[in-house]
This record gives sequence, structure tokens and C-alpha cells, in this order.
Amino acid sequence: MATVFFLISIYLFFSAEISQSLQSNITKGSTLFTNSTPNFWLSPSGHFAFGFYPSGNGFKVGTWLIGRPRNTVVWTALRDEPALLPGVSLVFTTDGRLLVLNFTAVQLIAQTNQKAQVAAMHDSGNFLLYGSNMEVVWATFRFPTNTLLVTQELGPDKILYSSKSDTDDSAGDFKLWMQGDGNLVAYQSKSLQLVKYSYWSSLSKSNTRGVSLTFAADSRLYLVNSTGFSIRNLTGGTLPVNKTTLYRATFDVDGVLRLYQHQMGTDGSLNSIVLWSAINREDRCSVKGACGLNSYCDRNGADNIACLCPPGFDFADPNQPNKGCKLNSSVDNDCFLRGANDDYMISTLENTIWERDEYEVLTPCE
Ligand SMILES: *[C@@H]1O[C@H](CO)[C@@H](O)[C@H](O)[C@H]1NC(C)=O
Ligand SMILES: *[C@@H]1O[C@H](CO)[C@@H](O)[C@H](O)[C@H]1NC(C)=O
Ligand SMILES: *[C@@H]1O[C@H](CO)[C@@H](O)[C@H](O)[C@H]1NC(C)=O
Ligand SMILES: *[C@@H]1O[C@H](CO)[C@@H](O)[C@H](O)[C@H]1NC(C)=O
Ligand SMILES: *[C@@H]1O[C@H](CO)[C@@H](O)[C@H](O)[C@H]1NC(C)=O
Ligand SMILES: *[C@@H]1O[C@H](CO)[C@@H](O)[C@H](O)[C@H]1NC(C)=O
Repeated sequence: MATVFFLISIYLFFSAEISQSLQSNITKGSTLFTNSTPNFWLSPSGHFAFGFYPSGNGFKVGTWLIGRPRNTVVWTALRDEPALLPGVSLVFTTDGRLLVLNFTAVQLIAQTNQKAQVAAMHDSGNFLLYGSNMEVVWATFRFPTNTLLVTQELGPDKILYSSKSDTDDSAGDFKLWMQGDGNLVAYQSKSLQLVKYSYWSSLSKSNTRGVSLTFAADSRLYLVNSTGFSIRNLTGGTLPVNKTTLYRATFDVDGVLRLYQHQMGTDGSLNSIVLWSAINREDRCSVKGACGLNSYCDRNGADNIACLCPPGFDFADPNQPNKGCKLNSSVDNDCFLRGANDDYMISTLENTIWERDEYEVLTPCE
């Protein structure tokens, strides 16, 4: 009788430990498959997950905020690689590496110098690998993609790239650069780092080196110098912090940095509002590259902007008006094929502001 009781207590002791470690620590040898249920590792609060999320015809590995109507992806691994095919696995290997096995090859998720002992998905939204003395070997927070979460930083010379679209998290059209001169500046992603190509800046007092963009728990987004002094506040902060309110700063698909507040409902809903926007809705035409080559941007009411073509031009892709315009082929023929006797038409575009340099040929730098 005594022996049975002893065995039962040992069993209870072990199962308690196992369920605890399932909640917070991910042990070596843990594996997720695209079709596992679940195919992610949860944070203890249940608000953040790390694992496979659907993307295109396959999956990507990343971190997301859970909530209806739709989960919010906050970090993506191998962002510019094609989507992973169904059936691949995400493995925290017995020798301490985090990788994807894709049938033919190994794709490393974490580039580390040191083998990890344990992994954890934190309530902050940070997914970390720890070494044998619980030192951090790797963390998603060190490699921001398009989003910062509370306590996460964008360090000197680091860049956030907007995503391609709401359903494609590859790097898109815009970049937000924490410049070495202490300014946080937004550009089109292929643009050179020159003031005249930027469309938004934090306007910090210039030439403070070693500045980072930081995100405080009370939702304040600010720039901090290397000795920890705040040199510029982007947002006010002092908003309530509690377990059901989360904040997120995302450099959105349209090239605008926004601060979001998420209220987590007890029913799994996620109520999201924009608390602050670097560029107001009605000013989004100021985003250089919001519309493509040969087109212009129209402030079509306060809520929307529209990309339009000047007379004689048509959309390059009628399904993607923001991808620019091309000369209508009939106009092209008139102007360039039939010689000098044609009637040329010059039309006026009212209420339009033109860039100073409409066209420019850039030579690639060495
Ligand atoms: C997670 O693992 C570390 C290192 O093995 C350990 O110190 C810690 O207590 C574990 N945490 C939980 C909640 O199991
Ligand atoms: C597996 O990964 C390798 C290396 O990144 C890549 O070249 C290959 O196309 C991938 N295979 C599949 C089936 O996705
Ligand atoms: C950071 O800012 C503080 C306050 O302006 C200043 O005293 C300090 O020297 C600055 N640190 C650096 C490294 O510039
Ligand atoms: C930013 O806000 C914090 C908290 O309100 C304040 O302590 C700090 O002085 C502000 N920094 C600047 C540069 O205004
Ligand atoms: C958390 O803060 C939000 C925002 O002010 C508030 O609406 C909500 O009621 C708070 N929740 C709790 C559990 O205190
Ligand atoms: C070119 O312009 C003409 C006349 O405005 C129009 O009828 C035609 O549809 C345009 N061509 C294309 C390819 O859009």
C-alpha cells in the first residue's frame, strides 16, 4: 500500500513538472509539423505563438498575436524565402539548433555561435534561445522585421522593412531606418539614403550617434541615446498597462509607422485601434512611392488615397493601380511613329503639386 502511494506521488510530481515545462520551456528535441495540432508553441499568457502560420500556398515560421478576427503576425523568419511546403518540420534539435527540415535541406531559423539548451516563447512576444547558464543565445527581438513590441528596440543603423501586402510578409516597398545620425527616417526601400528621397523623419537634433528607437511598457515610442537618455518622444505614452492590453508599433504596408493598442477579450477577440500614426490618413500622398512611376497620388477624401494616371497614360497593371502607369499605346504611336505632322495635345492637370525632380537617373554606388 505504501509503495503504491509512493509511486502515485512520484507520478503526480513528474506530470506537474511536465505540464509546467510545456507552458513555458521548450526542450531540445521538440518538433512541430505544419499539420501538428497545435503547430505552434504558446506563451504562458496564451497571447503569443511561435510556429507555422499559413502564407500563400504554404507556411512561414514566425511569431503572432492570437485573436479574432485575425491573428497579427509580428515577426517572420526567412522573410524573403518562398513559403514552406506543407509537411516540413520546425525542429529544436537535440544539439540545440533551431531549424526547418524541408525534405531536401536544412534551413536555419536561428544563426547562433553557441548551442542552445532551452527555448521559450515569452509573454512579451519575444521567442528566445538560452544557453546552459540561461544566457540569451538568440532572440527574435534582436531581428525586427516590420514590427516592434514593448521592450523591443531598433538599434543604430537597423532597418524595419514594410511587408509586401497584408497576406505576404516578404519585405515590401518601404524602409524605416534608425540612422547613425540619430534620425529615424522613412524611404522607399530601393532609395538611396539621401534627405531628398526621404518622406518622413523623427527630426531629432541632428548628429547624435548611437541612437535607438525604444518602446516603453506604457506604450511610449521614443529615441534614446547610448547612455540611456530619451532625446525625442514620438508618442506620449502613460497609457495603462495590464495583462489584457498590448501595444505594437508596425511599419505598415503603406510605409507609415503606426502605434496600435490591442484589447484582448475573454472570448478570444482582439479589439485593435490605432493610437498614433507618423503620417495622418489625409497626408498619405506624401509617402514617396505610394504610387508608381508615371502616376500621381490623389487625396480622394480624408480616408483614402488613389493612384491615378495623367491624360494619355493607362495603369501598367489595372489590378494594381499603385504599380504605376504607362503611355497609352495609341498615344505612343501618334507621338513617336507617324512623324512630325501630328496634332499634339497638351492638357492641364489642375491642383497638382509636382516633385522638383520628376525623373532622375541614379547610378549604382560601388
Ligand atoms: C526553464 O528552464 C530553465 C533552465 O533549464 C529553468 O531554470 C527554469 O526553471 C525553467 N522554467 C520553467 C517554468 O520550467
Ligand atoms: C529547401 O531549402 C533549400 C535551401 O534554402 C532550398 O534551396 C530548397 O528549394 C528548399 N526546398 C523546398 C522543397 O522548399
Ligand atoms: C545622452 O544625452 C544626455 C542628456 O542630453 C547627455 O548628457 C549624454 O552625454 C548623451 N550621451 C551621449 C553618448 O551622447
Ligand atoms: C519624453 O517623455 C518622458 C516621460 O514623459 C520624459 O521624462 C522625457 O523627458 C521626455 N523626453 C523628451 C526629450 O522630451
Ligand atoms: C486594461 O486597460 C484597458 C485600457 O484602459 C481597460 O479598458 C481595461 O478595462 C483594463 N483591463 C483590466 C483587466 O484592468
Ligand atoms: C488609349 O486611349 C484611347 C482613347 O482615349 C482608349 O479608347 C483606349 O482604350 C486606350 N488604350 C488602352 C490600351 O487603354
